[in-house]
Amino acid sequence: MLINEWNPALEVGVDEMDEDHRTLFGLLIRVQRASDCNDRVAAMGVLKELSDYTEWHFAREEALMRRHGYEFAAEHREEHQRLARQVAHMVADLDHGHVVPQDVATFLQRWLIGHIAGADRHAGEAIARARRKAATT
Ligand SMILES: [Fe+2]
Repeated sequence: MLINEWNPALEVGVDEMDEDHRTLFGLLIRVQRASDCNDRVAAMGVLKELSDYTEWHFAREEALMRRHGYEFAAEHREEHQRLARQVAHMVADLDHGHVVPQDVATFLQRWLIGHIAGADRHAGEAIARARRKAATT
């Protein structure tokens, strides 16, 4: 079952990250709409936007992690790079007709939710903790 709106339970407690994730969900929903119509051209267009935005968001998240001395920043960055490679493959597969837009939408939803609920939540908690500590010292 594909989601059709942002779920506040996915918030990680760091405003910048949550804002970006909501934007990513907006793009994901647009990919899903294109896939509902099986519109490959529209799906490709939104995917291009989504991968550009993801690149920007990953860099912002990685800078936040470094700034707050997050101990798993290197592993998190590797996960980002793996995800970015998978998205690039999916886009190429869609372009070549090896997959349909629905496959891409399902894949993106799984990785977005999985990453946000896992690695991002962990990083978000550590960043929020570091910020609280800095505010009280
Ligand atoms: Fe992340």
